[in-house]
Amino acid sequence: MSHTNSNMAAGLALAALLTSTAVFAQDEDSNPLRGHANNGTEDSATAIKQRSGTGDPVAGRAKSQLCQGCHGEFGISTEPLIPKLGGQYANYIAKEVHNYQSGIRSHQIMNAMAATVPTDEDIADVAAYFASQKKMKGDGSADNQIGKDIFTHSDTAKMRYACINCHGPHGKGLDPKITTFPVIGGQHKDYLRRQLINFRDGYRTNSPNGIMNKVAGTLSDTEIESLVEYISVQ
Ligand code: HEC
Ligand code: HEC
Repeated sequence: MSHTNSNMAAGLALAALLTSTAVFAQDEDSNPLRGHANNGTEDSATAIKQRSGTGDPVAGRAKSQLCQGCHGEFGISTEPLIPKLGGQYANYIAKEVHNYQSGIRSHQIMNAMAATVPTDEDIADVAAYFASQKKMKGDGSADNQIGKDIFTHSDTAKMRYACINCHGPHGKGLDPKITTFPVIGGQHKDYLRRQLINFRDGYRTNSPNGIMNKVAGTLSDTEIESLVEYISVQ
């Protein structure tokens, strides 16, 4: 039920911004798609349950031993190019694993690793395990102001819709039930940079409607650097 609703909400969010320029005016306080400030930063029992989806996190803990070797026992990896998965939406994790399996998202190691969780049930359980961990967090050091500006303000001239509208305040996600837009706040800087460049240069093409290719296509190298500095410390 909530799965369908969250997909619908995300679909509406995407539809709204892809078809309307009126949303550009709204990214500060009035945009209803933004969710409530700090909603996504909470590790409340309800939020954890909602973001963990339908899988079984206890079964997922056992099934994710191999994954934990790289992504960390609690989903907080230490290697800068291996993404943190702690507190990420289970539906997003599952989608990415499916995308690595089918090859829509390509990465030599992960294409092989994804093959080790063959069934939808295994994937849902592993995703629930990582989603149920404490949400990833940066070191909280000072905000990069240029990055913060790009993150929070749309640029009408460039047709760039502000990151905050989809990834939520501080990149912590919009709402535990809106699972299409991944948590990026507190993610490793090097991993974020790599993904933005991959989207911009067309090496990663698995976002819905190519939305991230459009967004990243408007970013210069220096803008990407400012953005990843801001996002990674959240
Ligand atoms: C040998 C190290 C290694 C192992 C083991 C591993 N991963 Fe990964 N994982 C990576 C790397 C590196 C990336 C980044 C790939 C890229 O840039 O696309 C990644 C990316 C991912 C992503 C994408 C996250 C995002 O934010 O988009 C998911 C989901 C994921 N791994 C899940 C798993 C699961 C589930 C397992 C166990 C079945 C697993 N990984 C095992 C190294 C590993
Ligand atoms: C219209 C909504 C939307 C906007 C605006 C948006 N994103 Fe995204 N972003 C997405 C979606 C959806 C995904 C998930 C792609 C997928 O399904 O693999 C994503 C994925 C990402 C990822 C990859 C995360 C991971 O774990 O691999 C990064 C990094 C990212 N976005 C950064 C940004 C930045 C920086 C901005 C602003 C300049 C931005 N996004 C604006 C929708 C959006």
